[in-house]
Amino acid sequence: MKILVIGGGGREHAIIRKLRENPAAETIYALPGNGGIAADAECVNIGAKDLEGILRFAREKEIDYAVVAPDDPLALGCVDLLEEAGIPCFGPRKNAAEIEGSKVFAKNLMKKYGIPTAAFEVFTSPEEALAYLETAPIPTVVKADGLALGKGVTVAMTREEAKNAVREIMEEKKFGASGDRIVIEEYLEGPEVSVLSFTDGTTLIPMVSSMDHKRAGDGDTGLNTGGMGTVAPNPFYTEEVAQECMERIFLPTIRAMKAEGREFRGCLYFGLMITADGPKVIEYNCRFGDPETQVVLPLLESDLLEIMRAVTEGCLKDADVRFRKGSACCVVLASEGYPAHYEKGFEIDIPADVLPHVFVAGAALKDGKLVTSGGRVLGVTATAGTLPDAVREAYALADRITFANRFYRKDIGAKALAACK
Ligand code: AMP
Ligand code: GLY
Repeated sequence: MKILVIGGGGREHAIIRKLRENPAAETIYALPGNGGIAADAECVNIGAKDLEGILRFAREKEIDYAVVAPDDPLALGCVDLLEEAGIPCFGPRKNAAEIEGSKVFAKNLMKKYGIPTAAFEVFTSPEEALAYLETAPIPTVVKADGLALGKGVTVAMTREEAKNAVREIMEEKKFGASGDRIVIEEYLEGPEVSVLSFTDGTTLIPMVSSMDHKRAGDGDTGLNTGGMGTVAPNPFYTEEVAQECMERIFLPTIRAMKAEGREFRGCLYFGLMITADGPKVIEYNCRFGDPETQVVLPLLESDLLEIMRAVTEGCLKDADVRFRKGSACCVVLASEGYPAHYEKGFEIDIPADVLPHVFVAGAALKDGKLVTSGGRVLGVTATAGTLPDAVREAYALADRITFANRFYRKDIGAKALAACK
């Protein structure tokens, strides 16, 4: 089989590694991939948002199956386009991807179908939003409606902070048209859990739970990032919570999407907060999480390609989806300064025995050598029987990778370890 994977980060590297375990995956193309992915797939310099380029390539190479991983091409309708050309795909169609692409859509869906989430108001003008904030309970949370590279959310601890967020999003248009509408919502408290799931629109199978570490600095300080590390499973996601999520959140969500004529097929990601009132949805993503995927897929015992094809064909209920016992930890090595300004182009040294644990996110090949090319450079994943061992091993491996301006959090897994005690 010739397989196409759209995207070029650590998540895509983890997906490609796992797909390769199936001998039927003869050729895997990554569009655009990256310098590290090049060791596991044929990278082709076509951008993930270049839908015409992707379609042309897929036709030319007679691709048998495509995996669309990032939010942008999903929101643009990449799956619709490839499917119309007769190429089976993993990923939701455009109208289903809106569950991530529009927070207003997601919040209204949850309200209509009684899915637990923070109370909210939608605003289309800055004047109304600012007036509302005069008396709104504080802290509060301000969210741009559309995609904003994961930066569209402000958790405001003061009224002024909330107003500034509204001005930036709606008046200064910091995120362009993504800020034409905003959601202002109730501030919730509790541990956060990421649950990625496979769904064919009717059946939903959750993957092992995980915990992201979004802030750049130790102790959850500093700026929000794409994610500085992950552990799986998440100790706050107990059997009881899992059951409640399945009954009150997961199944109601896919039923709601179907009822709206937006059947969701692919990986549906639930960003949850376990509040004193039970689990609530913080966000939906229409795709695998990054770097959640880098801990979840290494724990997947079954065959990823088989599962993906079952999702596409609508027969997930018959698929074999099993996860290993044990834990995983992924530590992201970033460029000093990320997520703001950072330098790139530094040579990366990875010992050969560490390489199988590395998922490359932002690195390019220059004269045959791997050099840094992004903020998040790579993720190092270790799996072990216990969480303490996985965390220890991930850091031991990470310490053996060197590049100039290397920067990483020293406390990935600390919260989870404390919860286990
Ligand atoms: P999002 O981009 O929607 O995942 O939001 C980014 C982060 O903001 C989340 O991971 C939470 O830590 C935080 N957040 C979002 N919504 C809320 C909320 N209603 N209450 C408290 N924190 C929130
Ligand atoms: N790690 C969070 C996300 O993928 O959205």
